[in-house]
Amino acid sequence: MQLTSCSGSNAEETTNAESAAAEKLVSIDTTKIPGGKYGAAVRYGRELMLHTAYYIGPEGINGHYTGNKMNCTNCHRDAGTRPYAFNLVRSFKDYPQYRAREGRILSLAERINNCVMRPNLGKPLPLDGKEMISIMAYLKFLSDSSNVAQVKKGIKNLEVELPDVAASSDRGEVLYAQNCERCHAKNGEGKMRFDNVTYEYPPVWGLLAYRPGSSMHRVVKLAQWLKGNMPYDKTEVGKPFLTDAQALDIAAYVNDDKKHKRPLPKTTKEVDYPNYDEKAIDYDKGPFKDPFTEQQHKYGPYKPIIDFWEGKGITPTI
Ligand code: HEC
Ligand code: HEC
Repeated sequence: MQLTSCSGSNAEETTNAESAAAEKLVSIDTTKIPGGKYGAAVRYGRELMLHTAYYIGPEGINGHYTGNKMNCTNCHRDAGTRPYAFNLVRSFKDYPQYRAREGRILSLAERINNCVMRPNLGKPLPLDGKEMISIMAYLKFLSDSSNVAQVKKGIKNLEVELPDVAASSDRGEVLYAQNCERCHAKNGEGKMRFDNVTYEYPPVWGLLAYRPGSSMHRVVKLAQWLKGNMPYDKTEVGKPFLTDAQALDIAAYVNDDKKHKRPLPKTTKEVDYPNYDEKAIDYDKGPFKDPFTEQQHKYGPYKPIIDFWEGKGITPTI
């Protein structure tokens, strides 16, 4: 693996034909949402993804569940249908699923609640409540309306090449000022919308942003998402603006907890990755079952970690 060239953008990495095909597979026709009770649930589920804070935020009109004013669609863009933005079109089919972070099989509802609790700093939605049932119905509709058998896992996010050097928060700081600050602000707190219901530009750190233990808090994961999505006004589907190295450096800066505050987990009882040998390579909290430090797990170089595990016949999670 080597560093991709630093000149220009990475647009050539995903060919237009490839991304057009991917886009087509997950393009959802919302006029096809059926009538009746099921259709009503699908519609409300979609609304909840788009306007989470309005319905179930700290001042939500239908309940107070999420602890910040971010919407699911801020990350799962276009209500979970955009390619390379942690697309959710396959999710209904892919769960229940074994999750290393919890060390057990999770239902889709439990996985949804992970996002309600972690990036959205909330309390879990009741499993039999209208909101959970509607989000599930919406994800079922997404899965039924696309040819899920053909929707490859790769549509969830773009890959980034992992360089032989560690990602640098200091280089990322300079890149953040150039590419991100005009929307997400110098202090990372984003910009509230005029009506104070939700954000125009969501926060990327600070006490109202996603918390440690969210997948976005892992440097490689965030870099993959940034490559497919940011800067907002310069990145098209399958046409990244940032190089892989830039995405990693910016992710290192955004997720640098020595420079920025983030919310603390609500309970100290939470044990992520109970089986230490299943930790994602960029998860930054020990103990580890390999000889690498927290610093190296967080920022890389990741290749020696991957080589270590592959040497034991194990394909590590990234
Ligand atoms: C700050 C960003 C962020 C927000 C906000 C967010 N999520 Fe997530 N979500 C993630 C990340 C990152 C993952 C893990 C993606 C991966 O590992 O491929 C994820 C995973 C998921 C999954 C599992 C997908 C799969 O197929 O494995 C579901 C379902 C989900 N989120 C639903 C939601 C819902 C519903 C909301 C709103 C209540 C929400 N998320 C809010 C970042 C976010
Ligand atoms: C032109 C304004 C703009 C610029 C520039 C921009 N963003 Fe964003 N960003 C947005 C918007 C708007 C969203 C919400 C997207 C949505 O809801 O579809 C977002 C969402 C995000 C999210 C996910 C939600 C959250 O807050 O956790 C992250 C992380 C993020 N941006 C980081 C960055 C980084 C890093 C850069 C620089 C490389 C950047 N953005 C540049 C407007 C911008």
